[in-house]
Amino acid sequence: MTTNTPDAVSLTSATKHFGRVRAVDGLTLAIPRGQTVALLGPNGAGKSTTIALLLGLLAPDSGRAVLFGLDPEQAVRRGLVGAMPQEGGLVPRVTVRELLAFVAGTYAAPLPLDRVLALARIEDLRDRRVDRLSGGQAQRVRFATAVCGDPDLIVLDEPTAALDVEARREFWHGMRGLAGQGKTILFSTHYLEEADEHADRVVVLGHGRVVADGTSAEIKRAAALTTVSVTADGESAWLAALPGVRHMEFKGGRVHLRSADSDATVMALARAGAVRELEVVPADLEDAFVALTAKENA
Ligand SMILES: Nc1ncnc2c1ncn2[C@@H]1O[C@H](COP(=O)(O)OP(=O)(O)OP(=O)(O)O)[C@@H](O)[C@H]1O
Ligand SMILES: [Mg+2]
Repeated sequence: MTTNTPDAVSLTSATKHFGRVRAVDGLTLAIPRGQTVALLGPNGAGKSTTIALLLGLLAPDSGRAVLFGLDPEQAVRRGLVGAMPQEGGLVPRVTVRELLAFVAGTYAAPLPLDRVLALARIEDLRDRRVDRLSGGQAQRVRFATAVCGDPDLIVLDEPTAALDVEARREFWHGMRGLAGQGKTILFSTHYLEEADEHADRVVVLGHGRVVADGTSAEIKRAAALTTVSVTADGESAWLAALPGVRHMEFKGGRVHLRSADSDATVMALARAGAVRELEVVPADLEDAFVALTAKENA
């Protein structure tokens, strides 16, 4: 491995308008090989458009998308990329097996059909017609088309949206296997717990821009949402000026301090002798997400 191996994904100042809507707004994103990245953001944040730009399905108005140092079309043609669109993408009137054989035929070194069927948990569906699948089944078949070529980069737009709890668990089991083989994985999701659990890195989009980028722990910290609370007696307004504190609220006889640096806040409380029934509650990713995207909307 040389140090100048190109990233799996590199978007540089990519912008895409649809009429007056700026769907992607000067977005820069580099994903090194082997990373699993979650793309999070509310409806309309630009996740699918970003994915379409990096797959070369849409041309950016300005900026550039590069995959493994190549134009997206070239990377796709070389079989380096497998993608699962948010919807559609399945040809009607063929069976699952026929569809997968066709897609596999476009790659140089595809996985054996049985491996793919097992990976997507669709062994029972191999002879089913593609246009007679349920929503969740169709989604699993779309996933199979994304991985059947054994690509280095797997891009999945809301891969678990229509899956039930059990199917979702199985899906992530399969994805962990692929990540373990060193595949680069980019997936969009509305399920914050999926980003939290399964991604090395979380990129939060809002209005076509990156609002946060880091591990889920870093994003929670960046949102400054750890809550430190103590029982209040007497005059407590001074607590708002403690290190790290961004917001203060009185509730149920307690002072709740929202802190960007809960260690510093707790230490200062202790020094002031103001620690009574101390409670420290870290933000969950959902709180962080709401705070970050709300800030973006303000
Ligand atoms: N083909 C299109 N024509 C016009 N506007 C579009 C088109 N595709 C996307 N948009 C607009 O661009 C913005 C970003 O859409 P995009 O589909 O990328 O969002 P998203 O983050 O994938 O949302 P969701 O979570 O709902 O899938 C939205 O305002 C959307 O209405
Ligand atoms: Mg989308």
